[in-house]
Amino acid sequence: MQKIGLVGTGILGNAVGLHLLESGYQLTAYNRTTEKTNELKKKGAQIVRTPKEVAQNSEVVITVVKDASAVKQVSFEKDGIIHGRHKDLVVCDMSTINPLESKNISEKFFENDIVMLDTPVMGGPNVAITGDLVMMAAGNKNTFNKCKGVFDTIANKVFFLGENGTAHGVKLAMNLQITMLALALSEGITLSRAVNVDPKIFLEILNSTYFKTGMSENKGYKMIQDKFDATFTLENLEKDINTILDTSKSLELELPMTKKAKEVYGNAVKDGFGNLDYTGILAYLKKLNEKS
Ligand SMILES: NC(=O)c1ccc[n+]([C@@H]2O[C@H](COP(=O)([O-])OP(=O)(O)OC[C@H]3O[C@@H](n4cnc5c(N)ncnc54)[C@H](OP(=O)(O)O)[C@@H]3O)[C@@H](O)[C@H]2O)c1
Repeated sequence: MQKIGLVGTGILGNAVGLHLLESGYQLTAYNRTTEKTNELKKKGAQIVRTPKEVAQNSEVVITVVKDASAVKQVSFEKDGIIHGRHKDLVVCDMSTINPLESKNISEKFFENDIVMLDTPVMGGPNVAITGDLVMMAAGNKNTFNKCKGVFDTIANKVFFLGENGTAHGVKLAMNLQITMLALALSEGITLSRAVNVDPKIFLEILNSTYFKTGMSENKGYKMIQDKFDATFTLENLEKDINTILDTSKSLELELPMTKKAKEVYGNAVKDGFGNLDYTGILAYLKKLNEKS
């Protein structure tokens, strides 16, 4: 499979596309806001005006858009992917969405004679650009095997989990880790500052222990310098927290910490911090603790 299509060239989609081009694949791309396809165009991607044309030109179409409603829009509405169907077409959804929605979406594709796989990923643009994402895949196993070469280009680890919905479920469980880690790190930095300890020392101590994480070893040092350029926006993490809660409600699961986190990240978005990196939750805590 050499002809790949990309629907959605935001922060993640753009980086995945650049790596596919670098790896020798032919790429056709579409984004609702056309300017965000400029970098891919410069590197040789064919830019088209509809998801339908992406499908017509591709064997594998990867959707990387904001949420389930955006996936449905680019898939099924006027000029959507299904209108460009042909017998070799496979659709892979890399967006982070509700697993129950994903099941419905895959069924609707199936009714239109198209196989859809769930292919959510962990890792941001910095690792997507070198093909070092971690992918969770689900859906038809034979189709998965046919596409495995493409997945191995995009990710350095690929986990096949089972039927449609399962990969998105585990992806949400991963984003729950991101949610809590960013909060714990931000509250730790805030507390250290309040007792007049340089947060760099706090990070050095944390990173000398069993409780260190990739986040504390890397992003932590940017956070204490108020550097919050987004690799994954706070607004998109809040969207995922809401998705986790919707999913837990359908599954009749109680996730008390996620409920609390929704309140904190939700207020941060309302307060105008949504375009920052998700670690910008530290900047929100700073504002919350400003003494008037
Ligand atoms: N960034 C990461 O590190 C990361 C990692 C793993 C998973 N993800 C997931 O991947 C997806 C994309 O993330 P991102 O970071 O690339 O976000 P982003 O930069 O905010 O990009 C969002 C993309 O979705 C498109 N979009 C939104 N609503 C749409 C609609 N109704 N119809 C068509 N297109 C629509 C946007 O188009 P416009 O440009 O026109 O707005 C843009 O291409 C999200 O589900 C996110 O949770 C992100």
